[in-house]
Amino acid sequence: MLNKVKVNVTPRVVYAIGILPLAYLLFIALFGSLGVDPVKKLEHELGGLAIKFFIATLLISPIRALFSINLTKYRRALGLLTFLYALCHFVVWILFDVQLLWGELIKDVIKRPFISFGFLSLVGLLPLAITSNFISIKKLGIVNWKRLHVLIYPAGFFAGAHYVMVKKVWEGEALIYLTVILGLFAIRFVIWRKGVSSQIKKTNKVSKINL
Ligand code: HEM
Repeated sequence: MLNKVKVNVTPRVVYAIGILPLAYLLFIALFGSLGVDPVKKLEHELGGLAIKFFIATLLISPIRALFSINLTKYRRALGLLTFLYALCHFVVWILFDVQLLWGELIKDVIKRPFISFGFLSLVGLLPLAITSNFISIKKLGIVNWKRLHVLIYPAGFFAGAHYVMVKKVWEGEALIYLTVILGLFAIRFVIWRKGVSSQIKKTNKVSKINL
C-alpha cells in the first residue's frame, strides 16, 4: 500500500516541494529580513538544505533494500536538489563573502581547510549533476555512468567533514550528520556486497548446470 502510494507520486512533485525553501529564502531576502547577518543566515540555510537533500538521496538504496520500498525514481530529483542548494550556497559565498575577488577565492580554497572540503564536495557533485540526464547516460553507457557515481562517496565525506569543520568545535548536530552519511555509506556497501555475492552464486549455479 505504502509502496503503491509513493510510486504513484511523480518526481515533479519532489522538484516542486524541494524548490520551495529556496523560493522562501529568496522571498524573505528580497521582501523580508534575514536578520542581523543575512549572508551567514543564507549560507547556513542553503548549506543545511544541501546536506539534508544529500542524505535523502543516499537513503533511497537502503530503503529499497531494507523495507522493499522502491523510491528510485525520485533519486535524480533529490540528487539535483542537493546540487542546486550546494551551488546556491557556493554562489552566496562567492558573491557576498568573497565579493568576486578571485585571488581571495583561490587563497581561501587552498588555505582554509573547511572551505577546501566544501569545494571538494561540490567538485565531486558537479559531474553527477551534469550527467544526470538520459543523453549523458546513453553516451557514457550505464557501466561508466554507474562507475562515475562512486564520486558520491568522497563528495559525501567532504560535505559531512566540511560541516563538522565549520563549527570549529566538536558540535553534536554536525557530528550526527557526518555519522549518518558514513553509516549510509556502510549500509550501501553491505547491500552492494550482498548483490555481488548473490550474482557470483547465480553464475556458479549456471556454470555447474552447463558442465
Ligand atoms: C565551494 C564550496 C563551498 C563553500 C565555499 C562553502 C562555504 C561555507 C561557509 C562560508 C559556511 C559558513 C561558515 C560559517 O558559519 O562561518 C558554510 C557552512 C556550511 N556548509 Fe558549505 N560551502 C561549500 C560547499 C558545501 C557543500 C557542497 C555542502 C553540502 C552538500 C555544504 C554544507 C554546509 C553546511 C551544512 C554548513 C553549515 C551550516 C550551518 O551553519 O549550520 N557546503 N559553508
